[in-house]
Order: sequence, then structure tokens, then C-alpha cells
Amino acid sequence: MVGTGHPLNPSPSPTMSRHLWAGRFDASPAAALDAINRSIDFDRRLWREDIEGSRAHASMLATIGVLSDAERDAILRGLDTVAQEFGNDTFVVLDSDEDIHMAVERRLTELVGDPGRKLHTGRSRNDQVATDMRLFLRSASRAIRDRLDTLVRRIAELASTHAADPLPAYTHLQRGMPTTLGHHLLAWAEMLLRDHDRFGEAARRANVSPLGSGACVGSSFPLRREDTARELGFDHISLNSLDAVSDRDAILDVLYATSMLAMHLSRIGEELVLWSTQEFAFVRLGDAVTTGSSMMPNKKNPDGAELLRGKAGRTFGNLVALLTTMKGLPLTYNKDMQEDKEPLFDSIDTVLLGLDMASAMLDDIRFHTDRMRAACSGWVNATDFCELLVRAGTPLRTAHHQTGRIVALAVERGTEIQHLPLAELQAIAPEATADMLEALELDAIIAARDLPGASAPHRVREAAAMISSRLEKD
Ligand code: ARG
Repeated sequence: MVGTGHPLNPSPSPTMSRHLWAGRFDASPAAALDAINRSIDFDRRLWREDIEGSRAHASMLATIGVLSDAERDAILRGLDTVAQEFGNDTFVVLDSDEDIHMAVERRLTELVGDPGRKLHTGRSRNDQVATDMRLFLRSASRAIRDRLDTLVRRIAELASTHAADPLPAYTHLQRGMPTTLGHHLLAWAEMLLRDHDRFGEAARRANVSPLGSGACVGSSFPLRREDTARELGFDHISLNSLDAVSDRDAILDVLYATSMLAMHLSRIGEELVLWSTQEFAFVRLGDAVTTGSSMMPNKKNPDGAELLRGKAGRTFGNLVALLTTMKGLPLTYNKDMQEDKEPLFDSIDTVLLGLDMASAMLDDIRFHTDRMRAACSGWVNATDFCELLVRAGTPLRTAHHQTGRIVALAVERGTEIQHLPLAELQAIAPEATADMLEALELDAIIAARDLPGASAPHRVREAAAMISSRLEKD
């Protein structure tokens, strides 16, 4: 903060502004303006990207003769030092360092003098910040994809191990039909594979260089935009400078992708919460991923899973926050856009942590496959019985009705369909046979769903085995 007193004291500081842009200003900004305008506290996180962008810009300025080779070298060396200072946490932020771009340039100039003052030639913070953010999106997406990769592979391993362990499949959270734990786990993998793909797509869209768009209309310097784009590893350059400095779509794409991922993690979290209850007892979460209660000595709480579920909300909020910020903004850059950073950083951190939490949970989980198998009771084979009647020639609608009456009878007797006397079954469904009742054996009906994507254990094993190559292709 420039000046003294309370940080929100709105009176202008008596000292002259030390901001790099202060040429036309006589008085310093109000403390409140400094406080609201200042982004260095959160955008210092972009130091790597900012320095990388500046290196590319400086090299290009030397190519077109704006900088001598010696000036360029001084800048590159100076930027190395600045990077070191950030890297080992010795960089000293000054009150006048409004944002990361100003901070790096100010320090560079302290270190190398005049060449530092030339670095910003043909560049504005508007194209600079747009460039930094795209570099950041690219590496954040890569980090998320790496962690997704780890998690999905772990899920595929578990799925293959449990390809033949029966588990009820639920609709409306009521037991529906039997499947396997492996099949269920692969459903999680599918959600996360879509996220993997979405982050790849988001990174591809982000990989466009706005550098050289200047404040809004480009530059009269013969900037070699393709050179800086190539050096920074961008696939293309942006094709309209007005759009390039005011476009935040790539950030929104990533915020959307993080929301989807967080939503998926929340569903997985919820299932782990449910499965670890004493009522379900399908899984036991280990000590490393549960917590105790300060009052109830008996408790083992699935906080990690609950927070996987709970963290989704903030990622949706972050997406809506930036959509709302962008709505109705006129071209081109507006300072409102500085509000893009905190939501993005928060959402990225949230999903990275969530992915680690999910992986940790799957490393310390025991599946009670006996309990899962036992839960495959309660007439979950009714659909299979109905289909056996259909195979024997009963029209589906008739068979459905007959089976419904049979289930009602079984409920009344407190037994399962296959334990009802055949004669009573035949009184309701004339086509029923003893063979049909034998065919209702749990493992057999699971194996009978032998379609791509279905529950037959060999299908599940095949699907699990394909996951690694799908990750690699994507
Ligand atoms: N800190 C600003 C942001 O994040 C950088 C761009 C500022 N540009 C400007 N003309 N004030 O958006």
C-alpha cells in the first residue's frame, strides 16, 4: 500500500505514486483503490508464465532489432535472477507492484537498468495477462490429466480384480438388478475418462497465442507473432486483437471442466459415504482416510469422502462467478476481467486435491464383497425371471405382470422367487419351469448380460484392460 494508515483509508497518500504507469498522475491512488486494484497477492502465482512470456517477447524484440543482442541477453539473465528469487521465495514485493507483470518488470529493471525499460515495447499487460493465463491453463490441465490418469488406472485395476464380485445395481437407490463391483467401478472410470478428454480439449482450445495483440489493436512494431507463439509452444496465434485481449472463454472452459470433474468426484464421494455406513457396510475406509469424533469415541467418519462431495459447490460457484463477470462486458479489456484468477486458481486447487483424496481413499479401502453379494437378494432377479418367461413364449407385458404378482407373493412369504413352490409359480405364470429357477443363480444371471458395456465378468475385464490404451490415445 502506498502511504500510511488503515489499508482502507480512502484519502490519497501524500507521497508521489511509484506505479510504473504514473507519468500523467500528480497524486497517488487512494488506499481503497490500491487495495481493490492490486492483484499481486494472488496473481504472483503466474510468475513462471509471466517470465516465460517475457523471455519469448524479448527474444523476438531482438530479432526485429528493437533490442540489441546484448540488451536481450541482459534481459534474459535478469529474468533468470527474477525467476530464482520467486523460486526460492526471496522476491520482495513492493507496495507499488500492482500485479505480477509490474512486479517482474520493476525488479528486472532494478537488476539490469535500461534494457529492462525496453522490455514492454509493443506489449501491453492486456495481451501479456491473456498469454500468461493461457500458459497457466495449459499446464494446469496437464497436471489434472496426470492425476486423473493415476486415479483411473487405479480404478481399472480394482475393477479387474472385482470383475466377478456381485453387487446390486440401484435405480432410485432401490435394488434393481445384480451387477458386479467391477462393473460399478468402471462406471466411475467412464465419468473420469470423459473429464480426461474434456481437459485435453480445454487445453487444446487454450493453446492459442494472444501475444502481439497489444492493448487492443495490435502494434505498429513489426512483431513476429508466430515466433513468440512457437517459442511458447502455442499451436496458433489469435486472429483478432480486440477479441484476443478480452476473451476469457478458455478459462471458462476449464472452469466448466473442473465443475464436471468435481461433480463426478462428488458422486463417487457420496457412494463411498453411503457404502461405508453400518447400514450398507459395503466398504471399510481405512484409518488413513477417516477421522474420529471429538465427543463420540465410537466414530470413524468418512470426512475425505464427504469433502469430495462437498467441494463441488465451490467449483460451480467459481464457474458462475466468472460467467457473471463476463456477461455484458463491452470490448475490449476491462479491469473486471482481473476477477478471472481467484476462481480459476481455487477450482484448479480444489480438483487437484480432490483427485489426490480419491486416490488415497482407493489405496486404503476394503471391499466387503460378502456383504455386497448378500445384498443381491430381495428379488433383484425378477427381471431375469420375467425374461426367462419371455424366452419361453410369454409376451413381455404379460410376463412382467405375472412376475410382479410372483414378487408380491414372495414378499408376502418373506422369501425369494426361486424358493417359491413351482406349482404356485405356475399358477401365476403357466410357462414357469424348474430349469428357470435354476437359471436364476446369481453368478449366472450376471454372466448372462454379455453385451459390450454390460456386467458379464469377461466384458468387465476386457473393458478394464482397454482403459490404459484409451488414456494413452486421449
Ligand atoms: N492484473 C491485470 C489483470 O489481471 C493485468 C492486466 C491489466 N491491464 C490494464 N490495462 N490495467 O487483468
